[in-house]
Amino acid sequence: MVKKGIILSGGMGTRMSPLTKAVNKQLLPIYDKPLIYYPLSILMLAKIRDILIIVNKGQLDQYQKLIPNGKDLGINIQFKEQSKPKGLPDAFILGEKFINKSNVAMILGDNFFYGQNLSKLLIKCSKIKTGAKIILHSVQNPELFGVAKINSKTKKILKIIEKPKKFISNNAITGLYFFDNNVIKYAKKLKPSKRGELEIIDLLNQYKKTNKLYSESIGRGGAWLDTGSISDYYKTSAFVQAVENRQGLKIACLEEISLLNGWIGKKEILNKISFYGNCEYSDYLKKLLKK
Ligand code: TTP
Repeated sequence: MVKKGIILSGGMGTRMSPLTKAVNKQLLPIYDKPLIYYPLSILMLAKIRDILIIVNKGQLDQYQKLIPNGKDLGINIQFKEQSKPKGLPDAFILGEKFINKSNVAMILGDNFFYGQNLSKLLIKCSKIKTGAKIILHSVQNPELFGVAKINSKTKKILKIIEKPKKFISNNAITGLYFFDNNVIKYAKKLKPSKRGELEIIDLLNQYKKTNKLYSESIGRGGAWLDTGSISDYYKTSAFVQAVENRQGLKIACLEEISLLNGWIGKKEILNKISFYGNCEYSDYLKKLLKK
């Protein structure tokens, strides 16, 4: 079982400068809430309650103002600073003590997932005992992503390539991964690539070598959206606005997920309403109490 999760929430956000000069990308809004709420909601939907958020050095204050700790969400949140972006596998080196002897999930702080059956898929992934599981989603332009070719029966990965020049498949590797405890050992073995970072593809290849790299796919009823460029960022915001306004239900309302998971009750929701103050998000929380 995977009971611990890491959100890699640092990065320079270079493509979104000057928006990201003073504020970390993951604290900027996607429609009505900070971007970090979305990956955090994904871990919570996977029933993961022990969470490490990795942030840039010097930006801890910004995060702690928003999420002081997870108590009022019924979860345990810790923070760790990253001195500079050293690549995605650095999460497991920085998180070694936090992970300890457990299996672990990792999600990128700027990844947005939504869709039918997503919670079921997450629970299924969190059941891995050994090996690693990656989440795939079909894209139109695979040459821009890390891509996997899979055996459609066993869902085992046959090949993974970063930004393939020659077409191998449309299955992009998303920013959500589930690993057994070997991930710490494997991450420590990696050497920086030509661009000076530890590469997630190299880490996944270590699992592939031992024939223990598996996948799940988000079907066409689901969405995985990128928030890395300004244009993608606004498209994601517009998506959330359209869905929420149509349904009257929020995507990634952390308190609602906690309540449904049975991790918090009325008292905690009331505390959060006074924390957020008089706003539309609080009005939504008030409605939850009446249900
Ligand atoms: P990237 O897209 O590689 O970087 P970025 O988000 O800072 O954007 P840009 O390319 O415009 O500079 O990172 C993906 C996610 O992972 C993002 O949420 C930041 C996070 N990240 C870290 O926290 N630490 C790291 O060492 C790296 C490489 C990424």
